[in-house]
Amino acid sequence: MKEKDSLIAQQIIEGNIRNQANFESTSFIYKTTNEWIYEYQSYFLNNEKILLPISSGEQILTAISFGKKKIDIYDLNRFALFYFHLKVAAIKALKEVENYLFFFYQDSCPTFDTIYDDFYTEIRNYLEKEDQEFWDFLFQFYDWSYLSNSLLFSQEPVYLQKVMKNNPYLEKDSYQTLRKELSSVTINSYLGDISDLAISIKEKYDLVYLSNICFYKAKGEYSTLLENLPLEENGVALTYVYREEEKYLKEFPLDTFQPFKEHSGGILVHQKKKKFYL
Ligand SMILES: C[S@@+](CC[C@H](N)C(=O)[O-])C[C@H]1O[C@@H](n2cnc3c(N)ncnc32)[C@H](O)[C@@H]1O
Repeated sequence: MKEKDSLIAQQIIEGNIRNQANFESTSFIYKTTNEWIYEYQSYFLNNEKILLPISSGEQILTAISFGKKKIDIYDLNRFALFYFHLKVAAIKALKEVENYLFFFYQDSCPTFDTIYDDFYTEIRNYLEKEDQEFWDFLFQFYDWSYLSNSLLFSQEPVYLQKVMKNNPYLEKDSYQTLRKELSSVTINSYLGDISDLAISIKEKYDLVYLSNICFYKAKGEYSTLLENLPLEENGVALTYVYREEEKYLKEFPLDTFQPFKEHSGGILVHQKKKKFYL
């Protein structure tokens, strides 16, 4: 299975398979978020049991930096999980935050390939076997500069300033705290479509973060998804809205919209209410 994943990744890197415009199990990986996490991160702090999409891993790392001891994560994309594990292993392996930032967020270029190789040699010691096999396979064919500029990853530009604003745990001292927090957190991961997982996951959550997934689903599927989500009574589901909030409010009248303070867009909040039967 894992060998197949690395072979599919290789086909994508070689340009023999193109990623679809929509999301699937082997879509491109987000290097960094394209959201303003700090505008809604208080929800991570104030809720106990949380379920987050894997995506670039940054929402999860934010929650861990807030001291959460148990976090459940999900994604349709299997590669996102390999990448998240690579980031976690890197935080454990790389003592200096500058090296972590250099590896993941600076424009990777061939001049530094031997440095990337040295970092990967350290990082791989902290990977579980399956993840090690996936990344080892790719690193035996490609340098990190080639890999991270390939179609395996989103081609959206990465701005270090935005990364730092969104991820305060990347400040020098906080990074050291995060390294400690990582040793005591339990993470359960689920791979699959959230509409299916909503039915199969047995746990119940105070918060389910949906990013902007519902906008990629067929009309009407959002309400079914909300109905099925494994939420505690009064638990909330959040959807990220980039802009045109009025349009979505009309479509989802039972949600409330909380505009961001500093940016356009906001968060659609859906709260699970107790049902009364007559
Ligand atoms: C919708 S994308 C958008 C990225 C997001 N705005 C961010 O900055 O992190 C977030 C993640 O949701 C995953 N995803 C998309 N559709 C999904 C679905 N139906 N079920 C589960 N995960 C899904 C994608 O694979 C991706 O990793």
